[in-house]
Amino acid sequence: MRHLAVERAGDLKGTFEQVVCTGVLHHLASPSDGLRALRQVLAPRGALHLMLYAPYGRAGIYMMQEYCRRLSVSATASEIRDLVAALHALPPGHPLEPLLKNSPDFASPSGITDALLNPNDRAYSVPQLFGLLDAADLTFGRWLRQAPYVPACGAPATTPHAGRLARLPRNEQFAAMELFRGTMARHSAIAYRNEDPPRMPDFDAGAWPRYVPVRLPDTIVVRERLPAGAAAVLINRAHSFTDLYFPIDESQLALFNGVNGIRTIEEITAPADNRERARTFFQQLWLWDQVVFDVSKASSDSKAGT
Ligand SMILES: C[S@@+](CC[C@H](N)C(=O)[O-])C[C@H]1O[C@@H](n2cnc3c(N)ncnc32)[C@H](O)[C@@H]1O
Repeated sequence: MRHLAVERAGDLKGTFEQVVCTGVLHHLASPSDGLRALRQVLAPRGALHLMLYAPYGRAGIYMMQEYCRRLSVSATASEIRDLVAALHALPPGHPLEPLLKNSPDFASPSGITDALLNPNDRAYSVPQLFGLLDAADLTFGRWLRQAPYVPACGAPATTPHAGRLARLPRNEQFAAMELFRGTMARHSAIAYRNEDPPRMPDFDAGAWPRYVPVRLPDTIVVRERLPAGAAAVLINRAHSFTDLYFPIDESQLALFNGVNGIRTIEEITAPADNRERARTFFQQLWLWDQVVFDVSKASSDSKAGT
């Protein structure tokens, strides 16, 4: 193990197939320098997992940072005690309220100091995150959990805007979903070097029947208190938005029960099954963060999929 500033990642003199950088770049004087340094050590076709703060869900934090600046609150033990007392007195409905209740940032004095008194803290909206990647010659691959960013998943699909959202270019859909959802406090993205285009599942190309679906951890099948007509509801417990439950019917449940991480989609799908329905369903499972795909049986030159 080596301890090293992220900007000096190049000193490691090697490249890595997976680089994980969560919660760090947004604290640097120059996040783009840090990102470029990480890119330097990313192996060809390697994946970079980034987590960056997001602005709208952190609005309450930025308000209280400004409050602390105005009061010249410092990071001594007694000042932090007073600050905790002030936080307890915030009125209901303050934008910090949900974060105070749910975020580990507020579980300890050091967490509170880091959240409210760290002078280096910036957040990236979806378009700003894409700009940051672009400037470092990186290409967006996917969100670690993508359903909250996909208008076809959950509440946005039930609104009068569903059709209009679906017609937007992909990145515009993501930007719109960040605004619709309103409380995203961080973005977790997987990026690749520009010269190694990401290998995402492609359900418009012919190879999809040979993808092997693999269930994701945190997913559960619920069979109680179901919406009308549903045989089950698929949930990913890592999703924080409660509208992100995926109701499925009996025939979809049969397909889902066939997923064992070994069988390809065409092996799971009986010959009599409707191929178009299977295509739509497995693509939905992917968008809803229920499965990823091993694509090694779909093309001889790729090792693994996502
Ligand atoms: C909010 S914590 C995130 C910790 C952890 N990566 C996670 O996701 O839970 C921010 C971390 O960034 C580290 N950090 C700050 N500046 C850094 C730099 N220039 N190079 C490497 N790490 C840095 C801090 O030491 C701290 O551990």
